[in-house]
Amino acid sequence: MEKLFGYVDSDYLTAARDLFAPVKQRSYELMGDLDSKHILDIGCGPGLDTVAMARLVGSQGRVEGIDHDPAMIEQAQSLANANQVNNTVQHQVASASQLPFANDHFDAVRSERLFMHLAQAENALAEAARVTKPGGRLVVVDTDWGSLSTNTGADEIERRLVKFRAESYLANGYSGRRLYGLFSAQSLCDIRVETVALHTTDLPLWLLLTQTEQVTEVARERGVLSGKEVENWQNALVRSSETEAFFGSVNIVTVSATSV
Ligand SMILES: C[S@@+](CC[C@H](N)C(=O)[O-])C[C@H]1O[C@@H](n2cnc3c(N)ncnc32)[C@H](O)[C@@H]1O
Repeated sequence: MEKLFGYVDSDYLTAARDLFAPVKQRSYELMGDLDSKHILDIGCGPGLDTVAMARLVGSQGRVEGIDHDPAMIEQAQSLANANQVNNTVQHQVASASQLPFANDHFDAVRSERLFMHLAQAENALAEAARVTKPGGRLVVVDTDWGSLSTNTGADEIERRLVKFRAESYLANGYSGRRLYGLFSAQSLCDIRVETVALHTTDLPLWLLLTQTEQVTEVARERGVLSGKEVENWQNALVRSSETEAFFGSVNIVTVSATSV
């Protein structure tokens, strides 16, 4: 499979899990009472959420996960097997823009950090709404990469990189801030918006979670930053960590609604 900019592997997603734990937990709550329900996770990655939600649906419920990456689906199924929830949880390769399910199929549907990769996010939301039963809950979590904020002292370079990442590196880097508008354009009711700012003072974790080195390299290749500016930026990151001034934060937006 071709790896697009912004592609993350299952090691990345596992490292991010603790930081995202409260956001994930809240997204499950926003899906409503899941006991004995049939639910879907779109862009499920290595199955961290599908397996976690097996407990919430119980032995009478069912969790399905789809992802367009066969390697992710293989890992998700292995995780389900290892956790002995493979009777409850199933995964399959599919595209978010063409879900292989009938209309009004699921009691609740969620998607986390997928929409930032989609140039046509409105199609994915329409598909998610199509497969959700009337009265069912729809929950989408995504990052507003425009809100990425990194304290290094090299503020002008940092701002240029934020703009580059949000507008050129990712297909839909402002996804988080655009979610409310996407939901409003659909036939959905009871739309709710919640935002949390994740932060860390741990530079290596931040570099991993934000893929800053990869983004910086592509920005240099595209002429957004000169070689000298990249060097200044890298030095500023290290200096801010050494002087215990390093701080990074980003807004994660969750929008939920009821299908009609
Ligand atoms: C940042 S990961 C998030 C994974 C998971 N939701 C989580 O929070 O751990 C994004 C996932 O979306 C998947 N993805 C990207 N574009 C997709 C598409 N068009 N259809 C289905 N899955 C897609 C990727 O393969 C990847 O597993």
